[in-house]
Amino acid sequence: MDLLVWDPNGVYVDGTLGGGGHSLAICERLDELAAGNAPSEEAAVPADSSLKGPKSTGKCLSLDRDPEALATASRRLATHLASGRWACAAADFRTLEAVLRVNHSSGSSSSSSSSDSGGGGGALGHLVPSDGLGVHGLLLDLGVSSHQLDDRKRGFSFRDDGPLDMRMGQQAVPSPEELRDWATSSGSSRTSSSDSEDCEKGNKDSNIDDASFGDLGDELSASSDDADSGSSSSSSLTAATIVNTWPVSALERVLRDYGEEPRAHKMALRITEARPINGTAHLVDLVRSCLPPGPPKEKRKALTRVFQGLRIAVNDEMAALEAVLEAAAKVVRPGGDLKEKPTRT
Ligand SMILES: C[S@@+](CC[C@H](N)C(=O)[O-])C[C@H]1O[C@@H](n2cnc3c(N)ncnc32)[C@H](O)[C@@H]1O
Repeated sequence: MDLLVWDPNGVYVDGTLGGGGHSLAICERLDELAAGNAPSEEAAVPADSSLKGPKSTGKCLSLDRDPEALATASRRLATHLASGRWACAAADFRTLEAVLRVNHSSGSSSSSSSSDSGGGGGALGHLVPSDGLGVHGLLLDLGVSSHQLDDRKRGFSFRDDGPLDMRMGQQAVPSPEELRDWATSSGSSRTSSSDSEDCEKGNKDSNIDDASFGDLGDELSASSDDADSGSSSSSSLTAATIVNTWPVSALERVLRDYGEEPRAHKMALRITEARPINGTAHLVDLVRSCLPPGPPKEKRKALTRVFQGLRIAVNDEMAALEAVLEAAAKVVRPGGDLKEKPTRT
């Protein structure tokens, strides 16, 4: 974190908010820098007049395509949300450039912080550098969060039976009012969302009208289009669709290319023969039936690979990564940093 966050007046983006641990560390590091541990003269950049907030103007903007993450993290980062040091948006990080531009253009003249914006346009405007671009650091911690894994209804985990879902962003997008409520409440429940201009923009941007399925190419796109009744939006694609309707060759490529599963062919065949697969426990049984006798650790590794492959396909994660790396080249200012933690569940 010391390497990423070096300017007390900098703007830092956490593209993968999750449980909020890294965002909290960014805010705490900014507090630390503000308390006197100033950056070197060389690193210091004059304070940006569009940044308003606590004693140092450093900010953290966090994105997550999973609105549930925003609920959890808003509670954890309540103090920083209230001070204006931190704000979040439900958005796919592949839309980072658009999120910065939209909030800059609609919020640059606004002095509101996310804690007093009341849901108006540009609620994040105070976080965006005056040129709308040029953030000082971008953090990407790829993969699935422990919150997502622990919620059996999401279908990310092979530990419990659950629906074959695995979508990261299928829920309704929360409004700024809801985020404030979550930040100040101790409970864990949340209600459905109402309108939020910022959040909605992010969510709309995150919908992929023409899913590319990363580098798996045309074959998977075609499989998905056929199987998904013409809808190739990533938000409607679930693991159930893939295991129950994709051709064996496409399923095999998901397991092999995204899961790096050496028995991809055997597993894909076994799965297609056993259709319909009605939940994660059923899938686990089928995967296990393809494995030779061996220690439980090896079985867990194979299951991890299979679930990872499906999750990457469902969420079109390779294309998202490609897009955010392109965006990073535009939105991270010269001398700024991009830190990425690879995806491995
Ligand atoms: C490994 S977790 C991050 C954990 C986080 N660093 C923390 O400290 O708790 C990854 C998070 O990234 C989110 N995510 C994955 N792909 C994303 C994307 N394309 N855009 C935005 N968020 C994404 C997931 O929903 C998940 O919450």
